[in-house]
This record gives sequence, C-alpha cells and structure tokens, in this order.
Amino acid sequence: MKNLKFAAVGAALALSLAACSGGGAGGETTDDASAPADDGVTTIGVAMPTQTSERWIADGAAVEKGLKDAGYEVNLQFGNDDIPTQQQQIDQMITQGVDLLIVASIDGTALANQLEAAAKKNIPVIAYDRLINGTDNVDFYVTFDNYNVGVQQATSLLVGLGLLAEDGKTAGTATGPFNVELFAGSLDDNNAKFFWDGAIDTLKPYMDKGTIVVKSGQTDIEKAATLRWLQETAQKRMEDLLTSTYSDGTKVDGVLSPYDGISRGIITALQNAGYGPGMDAGLPIVTGQDAEIASVKLINDGVQFATIFKDTRKLAAQAVTAAQSFLDGGTPEANDTETYDNGNKIVPSYLLESDIVYAGNIQKLLIDSGYWSEAQVASGQA
Ligand code: BGC
Repeated sequence: MKNLKFAAVGAALALSLAACSGGGAGGETTDDASAPADDGVTTIGVAMPTQTSERWIADGAAVEKGLKDAGYEVNLQFGNDDIPTQQQQIDQMITQGVDLLIVASIDGTALANQLEAAAKKNIPVIAYDRLINGTDNVDFYVTFDNYNVGVQQATSLLVGLGLLAEDGKTAGTATGPFNVELFAGSLDDNNAKFFWDGAIDTLKPYMDKGTIVVKSGQTDIEKAATLRWLQETAQKRMEDLLTSTYSDGTKVDGVLSPYDGISRGIITALQNAGYGPGMDAGLPIVTGQDAEIASVKLINDGVQFATIFKDTRKLAAQAVTAAQSFLDGGTPEANDTETYDNGNKIVPSYLLESDIVYAGNIQKLLIDSGYWSEAQVASGQA
C-alpha cells in the first residue's frame, strides 16, 4: 500500500484528510494507525462477480491491463456469483492494503460492511457497472446508461415484430396483436430494474393498446426476474410458460430478454418445444445484451434477433481513468450526478452509450471495431 491520500471525495474524507499531519493529496501519512505501512507500491483491488459470463472475464482482463499499463499492481478476483466469496475477497484486499477498490458487485446491497472498512482506511471505492447500494462509502460509479439499454432492448423487440421500422423510430407495417413474454435480470443487481424500466416504459403504449399481449399475465419484475442471470433458470421459466400458457396451440411471437445467457436459455426452451426453422412456428423475436460471441453467432444465423453492445473496453478505460484521478488526489469527472441514488446518496457517475446489434450491423459494430473477429462470429467461440 502506497498509502496515498485522495482528496475531495466527500466531507467525511475531507475531515479525515484535515486530521492527517502533512496529509495533502499524494502525501504520505504516519499518524493513521489503521493504514498499513507504506511499501511504495500502489495496488488496486478489482472484484468481479463471476466467470460464468464472458463479459466479466473480458472486463476483468481489460481493467487489469489498463491498470498495469498505468503502472499499478492489480489484485483481480472473481466472486463465482457467491456473495460470501465476494465479501471475503474484498475483506482480504483491504487487509492486504490495497490503495483503491474497483467493484462489480454480485448483490449490490451486500457490501456495506466491506466498504465501511475501506472508508476507515481512506480507500476510494469505484462501483463498476453495477451500483453498490445502502452505503455512503462508494465514491464513484462507472457504467452504461442502463435505462437506455432497456429502451434499446424493447426497441429491438418492436423492430423485430415489425411494429417499428428498422430505424427504430418510425412506425412499422405490422399491426399485431403479438404474444410477448417478459424476462428480467437478477433483482439484487441494481441494473436489472433500470433495464426493466427502460424496456417497460417503451413497451407500455403497445401493451395498453393491446398490440402486445403478455399472455401469461406475468408483467411484474418480481415474476419476470432471473436470479443471478442464470441461463438454466431462464430456460426453466420459459418451459413453464410454454406449458402453462401456450399449450392451447397459440404461439409466442416475441420474448424480451435482458441478457444473452438468458436469451440462449429461452431459445433452447423454444426449440425443445418445436419452434424453429421448418416448424409450424418460426422462432420468436428474442432480444439480449452484451454481444456475447455465442449470441452474436445466433444473430448472424438468424436465431436470436438482437443484442445490446456495451463496449467493455471503454468501460474498463473509464474505470482506470477514474482510479488515476483518485490516486492523483483529484476527483474523477462525472457526466451524471442525478440518476444513481444508492439509498444513502447520489453517486457521481460516468455513463457510456450502448448500441443495438442486429444481423445487419455485426460487421460495423463488432468486427470493424475489433471486438470480435469474423472467424469468431462464424464459429461462435471466443
Ligand atoms: C450487466 C449486464 C449483464 C448482466 C449479467 C448486469 O449488471 O450490466 O451487462 O448482462 O449484469 O451479467
């Protein structure tokens, strides 16, 4: 731990700074009993939620590389989607004396104790992609415009159904009514509600008119949620929906899915029930998120309809920039200081934009930008 003091991240911190003899930005302190001894090395703890989804592996690798390139040591850990594991990993990082934490939480409400310990040691905390709730001790948030991701997911569904034209703005030629089922993410992830709200606000006018019918009646986020975003959980729910609601021969026309893993579970359930090429009913329009390679191939093959591309390279770069600001004694630049209320405070945030991926723009968005190669898209393997 290089025991850097970072400045201007809140009144509490300012007070603790004032209490440090000689403790200006970047200054060394000798009177802070809770801080480990200065070893001249600046180490950053990076806690990622899981390796079951390729986006988090890519995020971890990109953050680690960016930080190392900037001259920092990195302690990168994945939490295996298990809350106690992630808590323990963060506890250890703090004990080992990291200078800053970057955390993509599993459960956004389960880290208050860890972050309190971090605050006591003046360790700045950056929430990565997912907000950490119920604590004062989160200093900055780097993420995408999560509400707009939900808007984009619903927009891609409407385009696929033909209710919107390909530009996603003007009316399409289809009239419906269409049977649509709704899936949400994991309720302990703050993002899930933002995706859902963006999507439902966009679909609501069509639901109110009866152009879109949620035949199961499951229109509450609690009913639609998928704990830990698990593919098999989504597959099971889709199977149950097909049995409970569509065994009379009516067909599903579209499924709102908030994440590619969930989309693949939904598609498997549909295929097992006889949807697909050469069957009475083609596959419904299924949305997604993350541009995972397996789903990009499915989009290329006309199986999944769309996904949302969030360029994790840009998010990682933003996290590194924010970390540097804190460690240099400054405050990272926010572009949103209103949206992300974590229950204790509004966390200053930097939001990035996302794009809808359809079969027709895979080349431009994903291949030309170097995110995936043509061969990866063709094989579906990273
Ligand atoms: C992320 C999404 C991801 C989901 C499941 C969310 O917090 O923002 O990009 O699809 O978690 O991993």
